Amino acid sequence: MTISKLGIVGSGIMGSGIAEVAAKAGIEVVLRSRKQESADAMVAALEKSLAKQVERGKLEEQVAKEIASRVSGTDDLHALHGCNLVLESVVEDLAVKKELFTRLDDILEDDAIIATNTSTLPVVELAVATERPDKVCGIHFFNPAPMMSLVEVIRPMTASDETIATAIAFASTVGKDPVEVKDRAGFIVNALLFPYLNNAVRMLEAGTASRDDIDTAMKGGCNFPMGPLALLDLVGLDTSLSILDALYEEFKDPNYAAMPLLRRMVAAGQLGRKSGAGFFDYRKK
Ligand SMILES: NC(=O)c1ccc[n+]([C@@H]2O[C@H](COP(=O)([O-])OP(=O)(O)OC[C@H]3O[C@@H](n4cnc5c(N)ncnc54)[C@H](O)[C@@H]3O)[C@@H](O)[C@H]2O)c1
Repeated sequence: MTISKLGIVGSGIMGSGIAEVAAKAGIEVVLRSRKQESADAMVAALEKSLAKQVERGKLEEQVAKEIASRVSGTDDLHALHGCNLVLESVVEDLAVKKELFTRLDDILEDDAIIATNTSTLPVVELAVATERPDKVCGIHFFNPAPMMSLVEVIRPMTASDETIATAIAFASTVGKDPVEVKDRAGFIVNALLFPYLNNAVRMLEAGTASRDDIDTAMKGGCNFPMGPLALLDLVGLDTSLSILDALYEEFKDPNYAAMPLLRRMVAAGQLGRKSGAGFFDYRKK
């Protein structure tokens, strides 16, 4: 099956990035947020981002207009009827996602694929929340979606080969490099990355080095484009905490046990870039 109309549920960091990627690849996108204002704001933000690309000479004006015309925003889940793939990118919470999958299953046509952008949650649990477990898989984009080339396609035990093949073809169509991975918490990247990020918080908490020195060391010593604390801020500290909790729940490996500082910062509403402050301060002075 070729994906011609994509539904995206969730208008956070990832939902908006994926909308841009798909629209640029010629796919019609319906973006659903719980509030019409948020959906409209996201479409407006996309138009602004495209306008900037035109200004910088990276995109022709006419092309930008065509891309924007492919994206519409709605607060109505029923508006996703007719999409042959729906990718949810709402908060990393299993109960919320399960309920959403059950509702989507009722609304979508029988042959539509329902996918999750989850970073860690068991995809099979979302599959069995529907009457179409063979048509459920993970399609995990990376942040920021327009820039990052990788997509992990997650195969739960229930998925058909056709579903996985369609998901891989979709990822390639939107210009990404797909890899296939089994349905295990963290898949490839986060399972390997998060012990490192968590240990950077451990090091900061232990007073081994300062925030700036930890990040400077990993950039200069490993040639990483950004330090671990800045990366946690980019991912979002709440999302990062949910990822660590899900990894710990699955493997009971102490490297995945979230550091108390991370948990306290989330409780304090310091979520990283999206809230204006995390390990670093992003508020305009
Ligand atoms: N942030 C990252 O770096 C990253 C990378 C890859 C995948 N992901 C995954 O993508 C998903 C979304 O993450 P994000 O970073 O875009 O988060 P975000 O916090 O920016 O956005 C979350 C979205 O979920 C919506 N939401 C919150 N509670 C909800 C509810 N009860 N019902 C329906 N919608 C609700 C919010 O309104 C918002 O639109 C998560 O599953 C996350 O694990 C995140």
